Amino acid sequence: MTKLRVIAPSNIALIKYMGKSDFSANLPANPSISMTLEGLCTEIEVEVDERSLYDRLESHPGISSSGVDRFLKHIERVRQGVQKIFPFYDLKQSLRRGGLVIRSSNTFPDSAGIASSASSFAALTLAVAALCAHDLEKFKKIYLDKKGLQEDLARLSRQGSGSSCRSFGGPWVFWCDEDVEPVLSHLPELVDFVLVVSESKKNVSSSEAHRRILTSPLWGGRSERASARADRLRSALVSGDYFLVSQIAWEESWEMHSLFHTSDPPFTYWQPSTLDILNFFMNEFSSQNRPIVTLDAGPNVHVLVPSVEELKWFELFRKKFPDIKILKSKQGLGARIESE
Ligand code: PMV
Repeated sequence: MTKLRVIAPSNIALIKYMGKSDFSANLPANPSISMTLEGLCTEIEVEVDERSLYDRLESHPGISSSGVDRFLKHIERVRQGVQKIFPFYDLKQSLRRGGLVIRSSNTFPDSAGIASSASSFAALTLAVAALCAHDLEKFKKIYLDKKGLQEDLARLSRQGSGSSCRSFGGPWVFWCDEDVEPVLSHLPELVDFVLVVSESKKNVSSSEAHRRILTSPLWGGRSERASARADRLRSALVSGDYFLVSQIAWEESWEMHSLFHTSDPPFTYWQPSTLDILNFFMNEFSSQNRPIVTLDAGPNVHVLVPSVEELKWFELFRKKFPDIKILKSKQGLGARIESE
């Protein structure tokens, strides 16, 4: 076995990972909860090139040279990491016979301004780990049995990109410190609309944001507030209370962006259209009927609505914001091996 294909989804957090307790290990300052996005995936094909000793990235949309270094460093991290993980599952490592060739693409428009580090690092971690296994069929079976291997790989992936650890499960995933686990939800099936305000690269990277928010006067107590909100969100998901989930997500999204706006120096991802959209949800809805609205570290607005109401919302967004591109994604499951 020298070639395989992996698909990993992105995710949207309702309780945000923002701020770290350990910068080198990417451990978060607070728990986070996300929904996995089936329609916003990274697909990675990985192959062993027996004529080369070096790993290389043959294609990856919009990646910078520092991004390539981060990717290559992560491949090595996974190779080292599986040496510790595999023995727990009685998996043997295949003997290395060449360098890895990675080809990567996204199932959503590359320039849509949607963070793809979660999906790309999850895909890379799974692809490299699977290719390191001597017996791929056995690896796949253990991975699907969900008895710890997914969690172990999620931990490894987290060290490359924090939020990628939540892309190993779904639809709802909780991440706290080293642990990543499923969250029970009785909400109806949801779709996520992304109102794409801007497709350009962000001016402050999320790595920089994680550091800069430590200077905000609102940083004090953030970890406690986010933890308490994560507890409330878990209960609201279990009880299937959509409008309570919406209220909690609204508070959390504003809190994360308030951290950005009050950092020293302050920064914002918002653009005039971001505010138009937020004003629309503020003025035309109340906490009793507002859909779930949240923003990542970017200008684009995510709106999570029940699948059965998808058409109604799409038509409303089209009418209110005719110039805004809209992406749609169903809720989904975690990273998977697609084929050989
Ligand atoms: O995984 P990172 O380091 O790119 O951090 C991303 C953090 C947010 O996307 C802003 C929030 C989250 O929890 O996904």
